[in-house]
Amino acid sequence: MTDALDFRLRRLAEKSRMASVRPLEAVWQEIAERPAARHDSLAISLAGQFLQGEELTALTCSALRDRLPLASARASLALQGEDEHRHAALYRRYLEARGARPDAASLLAPAAERFLAWQGPPEAILLALHVIIEGEALAFQEQARHYTNCPSFAALSRLVAADEARHVAFGRIYLPAALWALTPSEKQRIHEWLRALWFECSERLPQVLPRPWLGRFVTRHWAERRWDHWQAQLAELGLPTGNAGRQ
Ligand SMILES: [Fe+2]
Ligand SMILES: [Fe+2]
Repeated sequence: MTDALDFRLRRLAEKSRMASVRPLEAVWQEIAERPAARHDSLAISLAGQFLQGEELTALTCSALRDRLPLASARASLALQGEDEHRHAALYRRYLEARGARPDAASLLAPAAERFLAWQGPPEAILLALHVIIEGEALAFQEQARHYTNCPSFAALSRLVAADEARHVAFGRIYLPAALWALTPSEKQRIHEWLRALWFECSERLPQVLPRPWLGRFVTRHWAERRWDHWQAQLAELGLPTGNAGRQ
């Protein structure tokens, strides 16, 4: 781990500190003053899924933090955990304001189980979280703003996305050096684990977001296309495809 890496992580942590100075109540007022669509069930479903994702990410950040060797990386995860708690509180308030609750089924339930069961290097979980899950969530936030018609949800989504971009940046800065230290067989094992996690989560989409256009076939096609994208991203960070084929 180099001084240059440490410097970049400290600069990222400083940006996070500066971005989180506004009190939660002021942020919520900015969201609440936008009109809210009364019957946007997609926005409500998405807010429930995002809320569960925020809670999982907050828990994972605090569980992983002490396993990272660099103080600046630990500081970044600590600040991220605070961001995720704030995001969760905002999604909760959005749902409460509509008399709604998150669905019992979470898209990320298989990821949560796999995080708990994983016995290998922490980089596997960082890759799952900071590259794939948060990267996909960020892309999803963009899409969601086009498919929903709730200005209040769009304002919430934009505020959250600004923080999520920094969380994704943490993975891009930290992971190449951390992955460099792993053996080829560790990388292969992580790659297979990530692929299984991706398909287990994505095949739950029709169940957690039931929509007439979102059937099993469409989901599978989308999941395979996006997995190709994430494989390329993983390879760029230093986790090559290896021999892992598709399921
Ligand atoms: Fe978040
Ligand atoms: Fe995040």
